[in-house]
Amino acid sequence: MNVLVLHGINLNMFGKRDSTQYGTATLADIDAQLLALGQELGVTVETFQTNFEGALCERIHQAHADQVDAVVINAGAWTHYSYGIRDALAILACPIVEVHMSNVHAREPFRHHSVIADIAQGQIAGFGVDSYLLGLRTAVNHARKAN
Ligand code: DQA
Repeated sequence: MNVLVLHGINLNMFGKRDSTQYGTATLADIDAQLLALGQELGVTVETFQTNFEGALCERIHQAHADQVDAVVINAGAWTHYSYGIRDALAILACPIVEVHMSNVHAREPFRHHSVIADIAQGQIAGFGVDSYLLGLRTAVNHARKAN
C-alpha cells in the first residue's frame, strides 16, 4: 500500500514559523516521523512539498496515474482558496485526509473555510505533528477497508 503525503505552500518553513501555532518541528522532522509510522504500519509513505500550485496539481495527477492508495494533505493557505487543487484532488478515487498543524477553526475567519474539506474523508486540525500522524493512520485504515 502506497500513501502520498502532500505539503503545500510555505510548509517547508515549519520550524521557522509562528511556534505558538505550528510548534518547532521542521518539515524534515515531520517527514521522518511519517516515514517511521509508515514502516510501523507496513505501508510505503512518500512525501512531497512545493510552493507552486501547478506543481502540486501535477503531483496529484501523477498520484492518479500511480493509483496511490491514500493521500494525506496539508495544503497550507491553498486550503482556503485553491479551486485548482480541489479539482485535482477530486480526480482521485482514493481516500483523502486533510490535516493542519494548527486549529484553523480557532484562528482568523479566512482559515475557517476549506475548499477541499467536503471532498476529503475528513479533517484533522490542531494537534501539531500528531495531526499528520493521525491523518496517516486513518488514511491507511480507510484504504484498507476500501481494498
Ligand atoms: C496550516 C493552516 C493554514 O491556515 C496556514 O495557511 C498554513 C498552515 C496548518 O498546518 O495549520 O500555512 O495549514
